[in-house]
Amino acid sequence: MAMVRARIRLVMSAIAILVLMAAAAPTLAQQPTSVDPTADAVKEQQLLQQLQRIQGLGTIPDTKSYVIEQPMGRKWRQFHEVWLHWIGAIAVLGMLAVLIIFYLVRGMVRMESGRSGINIVRFSAFERFVHWMTATCFVILALSGLNITFGKDVLLPLMGPSTFSTWSLAAKYAHNFISFPFTLGVILIFFMWLAGNIPNKVDVAWFKRGGGIIGRDQPPAERFNGGQKGVYWVVVLGGTAVAISGYLLMFPFFGTTIAGMQLAQVVHGVVAVLFIAAMLAHIYIGTVGMEGAFEAMGKGTVDLKWAEEHHSLWLQEEQARAGRGESRQQSSATAAE
Ligand code: HEM
Repeated sequence: MAMVRARIRLVMSAIAILVLMAAAAPTLAQQPTSVDPTADAVKEQQLLQQLQRIQGLGTIPDTKSYVIEQPMGRKWRQFHEVWLHWIGAIAVLGMLAVLIIFYLVRGMVRMESGRSGINIVRFSAFERFVHWMTATCFVILALSGLNITFGKDVLLPLMGPSTFSTWSLAAKYAHNFISFPFTLGVILIFFMWLAGNIPNKVDVAWFKRGGGIIGRDQPPAERFNGGQKGVYWVVVLGGTAVAISGYLLMFPFFGTTIAGMQLAQVVHGVVAVLFIAAMLAHIYIGTVGMEGAFEAMGKGTVDLKWAEEHHSLWLQEEQARAGRGESRQQSSATAAE
């Protein structure tokens, strides 16, 4: 009896081994140990896995063009077609949602003590010119850049191929040419406002007290408060990053390899969408977020009470300077009509 049981066990084991081998056979057949890249039907995936690239021979001097596919290229495509879309959509739409909710909860930051009717010069005509030139360039670059990332998915179905290609061509030219005045603007902003934007203890205290935006507190601030200094450095550092990466993209392979070009595009795309999100917050505070703020960059002047509430240390400095007859501003305190 024991003998019969042992035989049955042996037969069952043999059958199990055969079934396992039959199941594994197709997988083994798909994984040859070597690949002949010149064969008539070579699987692209197989070539990439085993040779790390698909590369041929060519007759033109640009040998980079002989590489048709390489593993980093696939990773880059995944970044450009998927991840950048997510990062961009979350950053831009997320910021818009946060600002709308913030506005509904907090509302506009009002001038608590009302207007005095006395205006103080805050920005010179040159400062305002540089600001608006850079801002206009930024908006054009942002819209034309977002078209490169999202246009095909969002606008092409709405516009149709013909209109979309005309618009995209114009947007691409605008993106390339507007980059020059934008870069000039970032350089001028760096030098023009550097002195007022070095972070210090006053800014730490300002942030700790919510900056007058969160809550109703009005912490003292210099000419630029902690939040404005943050915006300044976002513009200077973000502007430098998009400019360097952008020019590397605009002049392909000028000192870069394929990997360098891919890195430049990753940096450009990610910094650009974060930059746009940050500027949305800046635009919010300069318009509907704070009463009296737009005048500063619009007319160049602010109300005395506004300066007292939001930039008390700067106001004291300006008044002391005017008292000594050293004011760099002509008629720094003039009664409003
Ligand atoms: C000096 C400044 C800049 C230069 C030289 C520059 C140049 C470029 C170039 C050459 C491209 C690639 C276009 C293509 O693939 O055909 C590009 C893409 C792009 N740019 Fe700029 N740009 C600059 C500033 C900006 C700014 C300020 C923003 C946004 C605020 C921006 C947003 C974008 C975006 C979103 C893309 C598409 C990224 C992608 O989908 O790969 N750029 N830029």
